[in-house]
Amino acid sequence: MASVFPKYFLWGGAVAANQVEGAYNVDGKGLSTADVVRYVPPEERGSLEELLGMTRARLEEAIADTEGNYPKRRGIDFYRRYKEDIALLAEMGFKVFRLSISWPRIFPNGDDEAPNEAGLAFYDRVFDELRKHGIEPLVTISHYEMPVELVRRYNGWASRELVGLFVRYAETLFARYKGKVKYWLTFNEINCTLKAPFLGAGVLVEGEANPKQLAFQALHHQFVASALAVKRCRELDGEAKIGCMLARKLIYPYTCHPLDILKAQEENQMAQFCTDVQVRGVYPSFIKRHWEEHGVAVEMQPGDEAILRENLVDYLAFSYYMSVTTSANPEGAVRGGAGQAAGNLSSGLANPYLESSEWGWQIDPVGLRVVLKEMYDRYRIPLFVVENGLGAVDRIEADGSIRDDYRIEYFARHIEQMGEAIKDGVELWGYTSWGCIDLVSASTSEMRKRYGFIYVDQDDEGKGTLERIRKKSFYWYKKVIASHGEDL
Ligand code: BG6
Repeated sequence: MASVFPKYFLWGGAVAANQVEGAYNVDGKGLSTADVVRYVPPEERGSLEELLGMTRARLEEAIADTEGNYPKRRGIDFYRRYKEDIALLAEMGFKVFRLSISWPRIFPNGDDEAPNEAGLAFYDRVFDELRKHGIEPLVTISHYEMPVELVRRYNGWASRELVGLFVRYAETLFARYKGKVKYWLTFNEINCTLKAPFLGAGVLVEGEANPKQLAFQALHHQFVASALAVKRCRELDGEAKIGCMLARKLIYPYTCHPLDILKAQEENQMAQFCTDVQVRGVYPSFIKRHWEEHGVAVEMQPGDEAILRENLVDYLAFSYYMSVTTSANPEGAVRGGAGQAAGNLSSGLANPYLESSEWGWQIDPVGLRVVLKEMYDRYRIPLFVVENGLGAVDRIEADGSIRDDYRIEYFARHIEQMGEAIKDGVELWGYTSWGCIDLVSASTSEMRKRYGFIYVDQDDEGKGTLERIRKKSFYWYKKVIASHGEDL
């Protein structure tokens, strides 16, 4: 039987610079916002907001600290082992590899006069290596990190100054990697800025009377910067495609009570607020009321609206890990027996029909089909699933094997649903599973939460040989790619 996946469909995996590269202070790289995130053991972790947030005092302390456990400073040593790692991805038959560029590797302080040649040369080597193996790079320009100096000097994206600095960084990349990189993404999970302003936008909200105001202002600056990057990309490389990227968590109503339906609708609307701006080029009508109710007044410059309207993205990329439920009466729902569901950027109420990962993320393959259909219907532009995966503790058996059948099951069911969505008429360009090689977790900085087809021998303290081991899922994914998604 012929595959339902179109011929051009790109199979692969995804990582981010700050979670894999390491080598945080070599070859002229500046300190990044990811390098100042200290490891916090599970028993000492507070809320997700605390874990993803940052204070001025903690920031300065971390900058001065050269001894503490900062896992993103070491990553998995991709900076030195990229050839070995890319060879393993090629062995699985990857057609695409999503990675990001570390902004402070290119502009160490963010506002330097000239880019750092050693940083640019590193990515030349990586892209050349990928091309040698016939793997297309898909590059995120900003994935949860920025030069830490931009936080100190400007409070990150809260400042309009960042727009110009980002555009200069982006156009440096477009000019340098023209012909080597065909697929670009501006900001990873741009909606994260609202939930976790430091992680998403390098913004410290400490002491702010209305943190929401700051977050929406930062987001506006990111929208404008993203649109200007789209413009410059088209001017500098007519062949390239440039997209936006959203964390798409699906929200179901907890019951069929009309108020629960309305609540879920509103949360799903907010979940797509950023792509409304980036794909349609205008702020959606519902945001006015939201801003009024939350005392938000976003400052815009003359010309911003035209910039947003005239520079629309070519495709919409998104991450999908889970769904949650919501209720207009959450206390009542919990009293009635509803459990809590965790998530990467936010939590919700549990769904009794779904199972969860060891980190409490609910596993919902059908939800992927739901969001694919809904987003395609809403935007009518090509989609790309650029993150999807299962964080789990893997065990090495006595014979040295890692039998991660749970991961295979997770991927098989999600890929199956992607196929169904394609049959439903959705235009889908590709699939890059998250963390195709084990890496440092974005939210908890753990290594023990593993996503990869390839095991990396390193623990949360950084101990281990860094040896790469093929898991059972490695051979399985190879077969999936070879059969173009048919042999699951
Ligand atoms: C996404 C991020 O939110 O989720 C990734 O774009 C991240 O960077 C992934 O790693 C999984 O989250 P976590 O916290 O388990 O690493």
